[in-house]
Amino acid sequence: MNFHVLTLFPDMIMQGLGTSITGRAIKQGKLNIEAVDIRDFSEDKHRRVDDYTYGGGAGMLMQAQPVYDAWQSVMTGIAKRQGADDFSEVANQVRTVYVTPQGRPFTQKMAEEFASCRDLVILCGHYEGIDERVLEETVTDYVSIGDYVLTGGELAAMVIVDAVSRLVPEVLGNEESAQFESFHGDLLEYPQYSRPEVWHKRQVPKVLLSGNTREIEKWRLEQSKLRTRERRPDLYAAYEKLQAAFACMKEADKRLHIDMLECISRGRGELLCWENDEILIQDRGSRVLFHTWLTEGWDCEDPHVQESLAGKYHLDNIFQRYPEILEKNDCICTHQQVVMQELEQMGFEVSCPCYQAVCTRREKLPVTGLYRPDGKPTDQGLTIRQLTPEYWEVVADWYHRAEDEEDYAYVRSRVLDGAIYGAFLGEELAGFIGFHEEGSIGMLEVTPKYQRMHIGMALETYMANDCLEKGWTPYGQVIVGNEASLAVQRKMGLYLSKGLIYWMHKK
Ligand code: ADE
Repeated sequence: MNFHVLTLFPDMIMQGLGTSITGRAIKQGKLNIEAVDIRDFSEDKHRRVDDYTYGGGAGMLMQAQPVYDAWQSVMTGIAKRQGADDFSEVANQVRTVYVTPQGRPFTQKMAEEFASCRDLVILCGHYEGIDERVLEETVTDYVSIGDYVLTGGELAAMVIVDAVSRLVPEVLGNEESAQFESFHGDLLEYPQYSRPEVWHKRQVPKVLLSGNTREIEKWRLEQSKLRTRERRPDLYAAYEKLQAAFACMKEADKRLHIDMLECISRGRGELLCWENDEILIQDRGSRVLFHTWLTEGWDCEDPHVQESLAGKYHLDNIFQRYPEILEKNDCICTHQQVVMQELEQMGFEVSCPCYQAVCTRREKLPVTGLYRPDGKPTDQGLTIRQLTPEYWEVVADWYHRAEDEEDYAYVRSRVLDGAIYGAFLGEELAGFIGFHEEGSIGMLEVTPKYQRMHIGMALETYMANDCLEKGWTPYGQVIVGNEASLAVQRKMGLYLSKGLIYWMHKK
């Protein structure tokens, strides 16, 4: 990712970010930070960039011209790298953040959004601020890092670069990974301890020494809750609301809502909206939107009831009330047929209706042996391991659904993210399976040569056990009509939802 900071103090930026983890990432080429000196663009012989304000008042203001020229030079650089002829071609796509106490408060969510950009331009003000006209022409986001006033925007820019950088893949090493820390979602971190066991007569809580993972997780969650309620009642209120939505969906139909429930209990779910029995949740990682509508009679199969619900839904729903949801998102997963039909009228199409397949066991599944295609057991050894990046082409070529470029790119990114696991007979890849972005188990393929040997079962069992070890409920989504997959799910003792979920994509 590339950061471009427009500043009067480039050394401050480069020294501040050139050390520690961001410094390491810069050296490894995973981040690129350029600090552009606005003074270099002054047309004044003394390199002045400020002047008095019209209308009087204390203090000086940064002038429009040097700020604009510095911004334009950055945009021109970005355009060149992207093969565009002119900076105006990229100007609408690249976000320019002006750091100011008047901006929107900077949050983790905003950091996640910025982390998905290839380039981010940050403009730092000084003195009394910057001439309004150049802000109007260049800035897309006004961001504040808190309700206090700093002497300039540099510290704020560094805070943003730091928080965004650690979300960029591979910036944090394995042991520091940001991927695992959000386990408790909206709650604050629990207290942590290191050696020695007793320090200043203070003992490390006994449960942490017990080796009992479940008990430790339980204790940590309790501590996180206590701490959040005490220190951040606002976050705690949001947490409680999310938990209430969780309880509501679980009670209505646990199997049908397993994707939404797991998204929440794995600490990835954010409640975007809960109005008139409609719940909209976003998966923080993949940004997938999950939707359900639990109005009276939603699960009644009587066509007359469904018809009347469709009429009711057509008159009033969250997508009408908040059209920006559909404007901003190309994909949404809903859990009701009447909603699917309404979304079809709003320019979406069903890409696949699926059953949810849920593993209700809490103990690990037994690992069964392989079979020869003639049905006899074999002691041929199978190893299952995470696929390394060099396998991406094999997997993407082989995956039956990688029909278009988008699917192909998706499978590639799943391999590169370490989410695909391969089954090997000797050194030969016989099949693979993976975690979808939002956490379901899927993408199972077994090469024809090795079919009917129960390799699919072995892969599914491996993934389910991996989930159970993490304290998750394993689940997958089976496309309606995929009889082979339905058979595997049943054989493994997974339960299928009665109703369907509908993945919808913009036409
Ligand atoms: N510049 C000065 N104070 C600031 C703040 N609180 N946030 C962002 N930029 C600033």
